[in-house]
Amino acid sequence: MQFSNEALQESVMDDFEFLAAQDRVIHLHHGGTSVVVDLESEQVPVIVHWGEELLDSSPETLRGIAVAARPQRVSGGFDRTARLSVVATEGSGWLGTPTIEGHRAGAGFSIKPEIIEVEADEHSAIVVLDDSEAGLRLRWEIEVGTGGLLHQRMTVRNAAESDYSLDALHLAFPTPWDATELLDTTGHHLRERAAQRRSFTLGTHLRESRRGRPGADATVLLAAGRPGFGFESGRVHGIHVAWSGNHRVLAERVVSGDAFLAGGELFAPGEVVIAAGSSVSTPWVIGSWGDGLNQLSQRFHTEWRDRPQHPQRPRPVTLNTWEAVYFDHGFQRLSALADAAAAVGIERFVLDDGWFTGRRDDTRGLGDWEVDAEIWPAGLHPLVGKVCDLGMEFGLWVEPEMVNPDSDLARAHPDWILRGRTSLPHSARQQQVLDLANPDAYRHIADRLHALLSEYSISYLKWDHNRDLVDAGSGPGGAPRVREHTLALYRLLDELKSKHPGLEIESCASGGARVDLGILDRMDRIWTSDSLDPIERLENQRYTGLVVPPEMMGMHLTSPVVHSSGRAVSLELSAAVALLGHFGVEWDLTSADDATRERVAAWITLAKRLRPLIAGGTVVHVDGVEPGIDVRGIVAADAESAVFTITQVATSAAYPAGRIRFPGLHPARTYELRILSRPADDPAQSPLAWAEEPVTMTGRELGSIGVRPPVQFPQQATVIEFVSQH
Ligand code: DGJ
Repeated sequence: MQFSNEALQESVMDDFEFLAAQDRVIHLHHGGTSVVVDLESEQVPVIVHWGEELLDSSPETLRGIAVAARPQRVSGGFDRTARLSVVATEGSGWLGTPTIEGHRAGAGFSIKPEIIEVEADEHSAIVVLDDSEAGLRLRWEIEVGTGGLLHQRMTVRNAAESDYSLDALHLAFPTPWDATELLDTTGHHLRERAAQRRSFTLGTHLRESRRGRPGADATVLLAAGRPGFGFESGRVHGIHVAWSGNHRVLAERVVSGDAFLAGGELFAPGEVVIAAGSSVSTPWVIGSWGDGLNQLSQRFHTEWRDRPQHPQRPRPVTLNTWEAVYFDHGFQRLSALADAAAAVGIERFVLDDGWFTGRRDDTRGLGDWEVDAEIWPAGLHPLVGKVCDLGMEFGLWVEPEMVNPDSDLARAHPDWILRGRTSLPHSARQQQVLDLANPDAYRHIADRLHALLSEYSISYLKWDHNRDLVDAGSGPGGAPRVREHTLALYRLLDELKSKHPGLEIESCASGGARVDLGILDRMDRIWTSDSLDPIERLENQRYTGLVVPPEMMGMHLTSPVVHSSGRAVSLELSAAVALLGHFGVEWDLTSADDATRERVAAWITLAKRLRPLIAGGTVVHVDGVEPGIDVRGIVAADAESAVFTITQVATSAAYPAGRIRFPGLHPARTYELRILSRPADDPAQSPLAWAEEPVTMTGRELGSIGVRPPVQFPQQATVIEFVSQH
């Protein structure tokens, strides 16, 4: 349907003449999610339901839902109780965090728009609102995607003659009043996306990123659920801001009976000034819900996989050279590593940091994207040729947004460095950030990347970003640039992808400091964390996976002593923890003996066999397992098979531990349990019965009765495959 009230925009639309009564409450649904929007009560859209698909979507029921959600007036309040709407402002009596704020040089702060146009189908709607007094026209887009995700975005047009300064713009997602527990993530380098929980009481819980990238401490998902919600059960709603610059998410509960999550970009002072006749759009803010976090995250995975640009071919098993050689580059060393890699079945060889001019350590060279002539007198040709001859793809590390002051680029173009004042911003890893919004800087970097991609057979870029953007201005006394920089980065990625078809790009930022669906709409995987410690990785991978599908998460088998933690780990533990993602190796394989390399090769063979299941399956984290044991798995899309890992993180309270369940399998099918890897029994233990006498069970029994886990020492893991019997 499409209706317009353009002619009426000057008048107050008390009666909504342009919308027939049955169209004043709209219903969008897809992928098991319904969203009901009341267009009538407040003259701006009010989302009155976001969650399970309606059983009855007749006009009477829709109207019933809308009417039943209207608040009463109460003593001591406004004559009309204000409520959360898509444009919640003081102008409408809303006293919670406004969804939009701005002004015209200190005046014209009041905003109170009215709906003038509605266009809707069963999955999506566009509602145009006008505030002629404020000189603003708003275009609200809402869409329910194939997986049942709710997407929202707003465009603001300045319809007046003077500049409009936009200070804040959030998209709000109402949550059920009984969702009284919050979950978000925080962290730091080597510990990204660590979960934290708190009560969702009256007031605001605010999380902001001011790093010019989401940051290692960013919350990848802000969720509100029923108390004690877990992965398998408990109604929960969450949001994610699909944006790679500064952003803000908040959870708010107000005394007038609204609870909601909201998110959007975080603007620096004066960062967004909309010229007369111009518009600005927010990034998409995406909401998901589920009975448990497994279902909530599956919606993200489903929709991300449904995009045409989602990587379709089997994820190539990758070797990254960083922890194998660091800056110790040279043909002999890397050629030996390539031989060892090919011999164990590696399919993609990625040359990390250290290959370009003057880059012997991390103090200099960033910006000079020419192959170092001293180390590589014949360019990278000998190495790329060797890697390709061995049947592997070649990938290259770059950090295009960065520059070392000690570089030819910085010396030639000091004005290309982002700064807000004469002195350079706080340094990090001895580097600064290039002003990609400067067309000359952009062109220079784009051309260098095109040249490299054209000269060499490079099918993969590992795109690093090792510095927060702080005090990031266009020059001394200049304008804030994080937003423009982020948009320029997106343009650059789009340009590279369109000029080099088939090129894959990995988002790395000191490990996992740039993990968001804005970047992942343009890149093909993330480097999940610089921590390769399998024990640390368990939580990191669990919570990153709330939003990111497993095949987009880089997971590498590490060296016997983990570089970032000093922990000694077995190859079996390391490989089991890396198995449920985009599998790779980050270790100097030339230092391993033949027998060890054979074990590496066996894990790679297994990872190749399981990767179709991993790339299309449903991720399951199991609740209620006793502390010390982690159980997770992936069930194939057709439920014909599944793979689960049981990881002993620490000793368990019970010894031997009680039975564990494997939910998510097809309830009516019978599965055979096959152990793919497990530690040898200690002489003190008797054999595991179901390893001696193979058992079969239905999916329902596995999900409700379960099996005794093998007795394991801390830091040991077992991998089990479930195969449906016919
Ligand atoms: C940080 C990344 O996370 C590492 O994997 C590696 O690429 C280094 N940068 C290289 O400088």
